[in-house]
Amino acid sequence: MVNNLIWYLTLFSMLLVCIVFIYIVLNASKKTEDYLVIQKKGYQLRKYFFACLLVLLLIGSSRTLINLPYDKPSTQAAQSTVIKVDAIQFGWKISQKTVKVGEPIEFQVSSSDVNHGMGIYNEEMILLAQTQAMPNNKNTVYYTFQEPGTYKILCLEYCGVAHHLMVGTIEVLP
Ligand code: CUA
Repeated sequence: MVNNLIWYLTLFSMLLVCIVFIYIVLNASKKTEDYLVIQKKGYQLRKYFFACLLVLLLIGSSRTLINLPYDKPSTQAAQSTVIKVDAIQFGWKISQKTVKVGEPIEFQVSSSDVNHGMGIYNEEMILLAQTQAMPNNKNTVYYTFQEPGTYKILCLEYCGVAHHLMVGTIEVLP
C-alpha cells in the first residue's frame, strides 16, 4: 500500500521534472534576460534555502541523536546484564544464552574476523534491535525482552559463502 503510493509519487515527480525540462528547452531561445539580475535572485534564494535546511537538520539531528544509544536503561534502573557477542565466519559466540523477561541487557558486539551485522529477531521474525559486529571494535546495543520465547540472532551483512548459516539463539524465560 505504502510502496504503491511511493511508486506513484515517484512517477508523478519524474513527470513533473520532465515537464519542467521540456518547458525550459522550448523557451530557451525565445527571450534573453539580464543574467546578473537572475543570478542575484538565485543567490538570495539559495541563502534562504540553506538557512532553512540548516535549521531543519539541526532540529532533526538533535531530536534523533539525543536518545542514542536507544533503549539504554536509566541510571535509576537496575544494572544491565552484559552479554558478549562475538561474530565469526560463520557463527556467533554468545557469552550468555538465557535471560529473563524485563531484564535489561547490554549486548557488547564484536567480530573475530570480518564485518558482520547482528540482528535480534523475535519468533515472528521481526527485527527488534541491531548493530554492526566489527573486528577490533565493540558496539553496544541495549535491549530488554518483553516476552518469553526463543529469539534469533542473524547476520545482517554478507560476510562470505556461509553467511546464511550465521544463526544464534537466545532463550528468554518468564
Ligand atoms: Cu556474518 Cu553475514
